[in-house]
Formats: sequence, structure tokens, C-alpha cells
Amino acid sequence: MELLQATREAKVIGVTTDAAIELCWVGLPEEELPATSTLTFKNGRTARLVTVPAEKFGAYLDGLGDRSLAVAFFSAPVGEVVPDAVRVLRARSQHERTRVYLVASESRALPADGGGETDIEEVIGRDRMSGSSLTQIAERGVRAFNALGTNPLLPRFYLDATFNGIFDWFETTRWDWSELGNFSKVDKKLLREEEIETLKESAVIEFGTLPGAHNFLREWHDEFSFSSWALSWGAEEARHSLIQCRYLQHIGVDIPAKHAMYKREPYPMGKNRAATLMMNIISEARAAAYYKRLANESQEPTLRRIWKLLGRDEARHARAFFVFCKEECDRDPKSRKAMLEMAYVWLADRADGIKHPAGHFYPHSTSARGIKETERSHEGMTDQADENVLAMIRNILDDESVKSVRDVKARLRELA
Ligand SMILES: [Fe+2]
Ligand SMILES: [Fe+2]
Repeated sequence: MELLQATREAKVIGVTTDAAIELCWVGLPEEELPATSTLTFKNGRTARLVTVPAEKFGAYLDGLGDRSLAVAFFSAPVGEVVPDAVRVLRARSQHERTRVYLVASESRALPADGGGETDIEEVIGRDRMSGSSLTQIAERGVRAFNALGTNPLLPRFYLDATFNGIFDWFETTRWDWSELGNFSKVDKKLLREEEIETLKESAVIEFGTLPGAHNFLREWHDEFSFSSWALSWGAEEARHSLIQCRYLQHIGVDIPAKHAMYKREPYPMGKNRAATLMMNIISEARAAAYYKRLANESQEPTLRRIWKLLGRDEARHARAFFVFCKEECDRDPKSRKAMLEMAYVWLADRADGIKHPAGHFYPHSTSARGIKETERSHEGMTDQADENVLAMIRNILDDESVKSVRDVKARLRELA
């Protein structure tokens, strides 16, 4: 009862994101209704004004079904009190992202927390609630609402995102250039010819970073957590090609820039994020094993150190992709199937050497050949990497029985 009375006093304009945008006015006295019944936005879209009786505000929200209210204006009570009608709105989770304005006799500053849980954007003076000013406020409100999207993994507060936790881990485990030692001490006589070829291939493989980062930002366009981490990942990967190119230059080998351009073109965007993440878990785990093996075999101390550090980076990357993959699969069990399908595709078929996205998407680049030859000459390297991937799959599925590619296939059949 108390709630209804409070709502009756509230003045609310709602904007819904439907094909026809609808503005609703709740509890507003007849004389305060705007003269026009439509607003025309700059992009040509129009918004229709609808009057809703105050006591039916909750029912009006219920009637929106799956649609969310984009913008709402509430009459501000005297003092700093938040109108109960705002709480009626916020109590419905589908309207968590609604942009809320209070309308008062004149504009005033909000407390720093914007009304706390009620998340109020601004207190607007009544003089701005007509004509072009109202249109502009409503248009910006709709744009702000649309910018929030519908990604269910978006947290309410920025620091609740997974990126916040992963950031510290990455910051404190990043290697410093000073750890590499002095390149002028490199003894070229300790390097084998095939090793220099492998080094060239590795530098070229790492040029896949730019299209990778490009695609992550495209595929994760509706969130900021994984996207922010993707920037850290890209910054680390960019060092991988740079450092190997610098080392090569020191021993008299310059890598042509064309190799970076062969991979600049973005590869096709994935259809399921958990699947994309699984593909990257596999490529990082295999890259970690690859560098670790190269480091163990090299007789040249600086190169050994470089490859060891790069191997450590790739293992960290695999682990971070796993964290985001698990988050996605926990949120939506349907993602588990897509994740397993991707795992099966990349783990199962090794008849023609291992598959790595760097080689698969860029067959015109020399790295497609190089990575397969490295696998052939280093038996067991990929087995160890794939064991690590299977351990992560067990963790994601919370199923200790998945121990082989055959088990992955069996789980897939169960999910079909
Ligand atoms: Fe790398
Ligand atoms: Fe990596």
C-alpha cells in the first residue's frame, strides 16, 4: 500500500527498446504532460509518449515482458530521498541497466555513489524537460542503455570483473628485458643451423598476435573484462616476435616485414566464445611445450633464457584463457558442448602434424610448414601439452573421468 502511494506521486517517463520506442509517463498531472506525443531523434527514429496511471506502474513494467526499460525519469521528492518508484524498477533484474534521472525544480548534484543501489544518473531541472532538451536527454539515455548490451557476465561494479583478479597475477609474473642478459655476448658458434631456422619460424608465428587481438575485441564487443585482458595478452605476445627478431638481427639475420603483413588480415570470427577460448588454450599450451623443448635443447645461454621466458608466458596465457573459458561454461552449460567440439577438432587429428591457428588460418605464411616440422622432430612434445589441456577440460566439466580424446568424444555424444 505504502509502495502504491509513493508510486502515485512519482512522475516517470519510460523508454523501451522496441522497434517503436515508447515513452511512458506515470502519475504526471495532466497539465505537466508535454505538448507533443512523439519525440524525433537525430537518427530519424521516433519515440511515442504514453501515459500510464501511477498505480499501474508495476503492472506496466510486468507488461513489458522480456523488454527492458531504457530510460526513466522520476519526480524527485524533497530532500535526498530516493523515490520508491525507482526501487520498484530496480527490484526487477531486467531493468538493472535502465538509465534513471530524477526531475526536480532545479538541477542539483548527486552524492558520489549516485544513489547507491538505485544507480541514479543525474537530477535534472524541470526547465529542461521539454522540447529539444527533453529529446536530447531521451536520445542520449537510449544510446547509453544500448551501450550496456545484454551480456550476462557484466558485473555491476567494475572491480568485480575477472580482469581485476587476473591483472595482478600478470603484472607480478611479467619478465623484464633486463633478465635477458647482454646480446653482445651471444656466441654464434653455439647455435646450430636448424636452430636459427626454428628461431626465424618462431618469430614469424608470433606475428599472429595482431589479428588475434583484433578478433578478440570484435568477438567480445559487448563486455570489457576479457577485452581488457586481451590487451595485456597482445602486449606480451608482441614482445615475443620483437625479442626473437632482435636476437636474429644480432646474429646477422633480418626478418622481412612482409611476414608480419601476411598475418595482419583478421581470421573468421568464432561462433561461440567458449569454443574460441578452447582453441586458444590449446594453441598456448602447445606453444608453451614448444618453447620449453627448444630452451632445453639450445646450447646458447641467451637464447635458452629467451625461450624459457617465452614458454613461461605461453603457459600463463593458457591458464588465463582457461579461467575465462570456465567462466563462460559455468554461465551457460550449452557452451560446454561448443567448447568440447572445438577441443575435439584440435586435439584429435594429428595425422598431418599438429594444427595451430597460426598455421591453419595463414597457409600462405611460412610458419604453417615450420610448426609441423618442429612437431615431427620433437616426439612427445604435443602429448604433454595436450595432457595439460585435458586437465583443464576436466576442471571446466568438473568431471575427472575425461582422460583422453576418446573421452572428449564420448562426452560430446552424451551432450548431443
Ligand atoms: Fe607467444
Ligand atoms: Fe601466448
